Amino acid sequence: MTQVIDGKLVAGDVVSQVKQATSKLVAETGVTPGLAVIIVGDDPASHVYVNSKSRMAKECGFKSVQHTLPAETTQEELEALVASLNEDPSIHGILVQLPLPKHLKSEPVIQSILPQKDVDGLHVVNAGKLATGDLETGLVSCTPAGAMVFVRRIHGEDLSGLNAVVIGRSNLFGKPMAQLLLNANATVTIAHSRTKDLPILCRTADILVAAVGRTQMVKGDWVKPGATVIDVGINRIAAPEKGEGKTRLVGDVDYAEAEKVAGAITPVPGGVGPMTIAMLMANTAKSAYRAAG
Ligand code: GUN
Repeated sequence: MTQVIDGKLVAGDVVSQVKQATSKLVAETGVTPGLAVIIVGDDPASHVYVNSKSRMAKECGFKSVQHTLPAETTQEELEALVASLNEDPSIHGILVQLPLPKHLKSEPVIQSILPQKDVDGLHVVNAGKLATGDLETGLVSCTPAGAMVFVRRIHGEDLSGLNAVVIGRSNLFGKPMAQLLLNANATVTIAHSRTKDLPILCRTADILVAAVGRTQMVKGDWVKPGATVIDVGINRIAAPEKGEGKTRLVGDVDYAEAEKVAGAITPVPGGVGPMTIAMLMANTAKSAYRAAG
């Protein structure tokens, strides 16, 4: 029987641990974790994500601040806001929702966040700590950290002898995911748009992670029987069966096919998605704990 990994359930466990840790921190030190989320412009999907991040932060007992900036915001204005949040002792986590409007450069903004407040794990200091195996003092990007919680639930802490293939090489997901798997002793291959014979490579994977942004690209015959399949894709497609003009979300994996072959698989929606927000809460609590000493 294929195990369908319930992201909401696992995320619920993480969030309840964060809530407990937050109550303890407040009771013992008087420090309340503070999360600031910045969104620029009016991309509807980004607003949905940011609102759920802010709502969840409140639910965890955090101070939750949302800065909604107009699409015309300048680079200087955005970096000035980050600078003021860097200096604000009541803020332990700063997240700048990506993508930014085209006229803004995201990299200088991300690198201007203090590494200890970079709850997205995108600052070069945090990326470097992950790359050198320092998972203790750094902050790890939320989506790969969440995907890794699933992998550990299925395979345990030590992935020795297991082949992992990560499709996608982004800084936000593919690279940190590969580092986390490597840290847990998996034998890791990063595949991407220039990889040859992708289906054959994928069939070698005991752990197959897809993050390419291409609707249902990974077919059932790409999956090794019994493999764990983690689908990080979120693609919106037409769903005429739900009515005219309706849409639905699907992943990068052809779920109906892969589910027949895999040992464990994450659905879309309800797999990796809820874990991203849960891990953001965990990162913010971790930063607040460190700030409290
Ligand atoms: N946009 C989509 N996913 C993410 C994420 O994890 N962090 C940020 N900052 N923006 C995103």
